[in-house]
Amino acid sequence: MSSSSSSSPLAIKIIYGSQTGNSQSAAFTLQSRLLSDLSSSSGTSGQGKGQVDVTVENCDDWLSDTSTDGGGLYIVITSSYGNGQAPLGCRLLRQYLDALRIGRGVEEDNTTCQGMNFMMLGLGSRDYRTWFKNPRTVCEGLVGLGGNLVPTPSCESVDGSSSGLESAKCKGVGVADATGGGGKRQEEVVEDWIKHVVSKGVPEFLEGWSGGRWDEGRFKRRAREVLGEEIGGEEGGVEEGKGVGMWRYVLVPILLAVLAGGIAWKGSA
Ligand SMILES: Cc1cc2nc3c(=O)[nH]c(=O)nc-3n(C[C@H](O)[C@H](O)[C@H](O)COP(=O)(O)O)c2cc1C
Repeated sequence: MSSSSSSSPLAIKIIYGSQTGNSQSAAFTLQSRLLSDLSSSSGTSGQGKGQVDVTVENCDDWLSDTSTDGGGLYIVITSSYGNGQAPLGCRLLRQYLDALRIGRGVEEDNTTCQGMNFMMLGLGSRDYRTWFKNPRTVCEGLVGLGGNLVPTPSCESVDGSSSGLESAKCKGVGVADATGGGGKRQEEVVEDWIKHVVSKGVPEFLEGWSGGRWDEGRFKRRAREVLGEEIGGEEGGVEEGKGVGMWRYVLVPILLAVLAGGIAWKGSA
């Protein structure tokens, strides 16, 4: 970890993965609350005012970006989609972390997240057998590489119910269940988590922060080595719904429906 003067603002990087927009909207809401409470003179909290810079981008844009200007604190917000898979904007990061787990050439280098401080909020639904699989895999991957999970309340401490996370490595990840399992709607859990991060999580982190920033370059270079050409080809997140990336989700089902219709028509003729 390189260090900088503790008088420079804390660079907070919010990275998200989102299929239907929930995690994305949480990420942007968190950014605007952090900026209004902790960085502008019109903020309400007073504590830590003027001490944060906050950026937001999806995980894969962040991973693909060759900038090595590391953050002092990362906030990861992502859902699970499909069958426990990563949502849009988190697929490359997940692919990379999955590759680590199966030892595709990186098993000996398990320190590339050393010096990374991160908080995390995961979105999912207990209706799926693969409940919370993507947030858990991302969290375990980052911790497995030496990342430091800065704990925030999960459903457990927000409303007293169990988060259902078995992994000790992920204790301290916020858990937002779309079924409202903990007695609160997902949006309420997200809102409570954001409030906690803005009013307590980040101000407390700032108090103990020495001014260090994680050297993210090594992690990104390793990802490029493992993912090869794939890292250049992934489309961005939900808001960048342009090009083939988003359209394939619309066009492929239509093409299949037309084909199926054609076959049925031929059969009946
Ligand atoms: C088609 C579909 C598949 C999903 N698959 C999973 C899953 O495997 N595991 C899980 O925990 N949640 C799953 N979910 C729930 C989503 O993670 C949840 O709705 C979340 O709020 C979506 O957030 P996002 O809009 O940021 O992607 C699924 C939802 C849908 C609609």
